[in-house]
Amino acid sequence: MTKEELIVCARKAATKAYAPYSNFTVGAALLTRQGKVYTGCNIENASYGATNCAERTAIFKAVSEGERDFVAIAIVAGDGSTAYPCGICLQVMNEFLPEGEVILEEKGAIAAYSLKELLPKGFIL
Ligand code: THU
Repeated sequence: MTKEELIVCARKAATKAYAPYSNFTVGAALLTRQGKVYTGCNIENASYGATNCAERTAIFKAVSEGERDFVAIAIVAGDGSTAYPCGICLQVMNEFLPEGEVILEEKGAIAAYSLKELLPKGFIL
């Protein structure tokens, strides 16, 4: 699975977003070490606070299916802008893919960061 292919999966996932409040759709595609892809979209809520980001949807779907070993996650905004992961999602990524790669779109080009670059000192117990 190439970075481009993972981005394509994330783009497809963004089309499923439920974002009537912000109109900002996001898709994520999470790659397991075995090569399986779990996708997610943002799911908003009238309370705003109950909103779930695309990254966490993908991670929670995968973990709830028994997956624990992830190598990368691609994240795209439906409008083509860059969707840098929020702090909560970075912390959840720190739990499940601390050595993972975060693949984004920046001005139409694919950019890859290590999670450590985006969250150098995540909370650990
Ligand atoms: N959002 C994500 O899905 N992922 C992020 O990392 C940043 C924000 C969503 C949450 C909300 O539905 C919308 O984008 C606007 O904040």
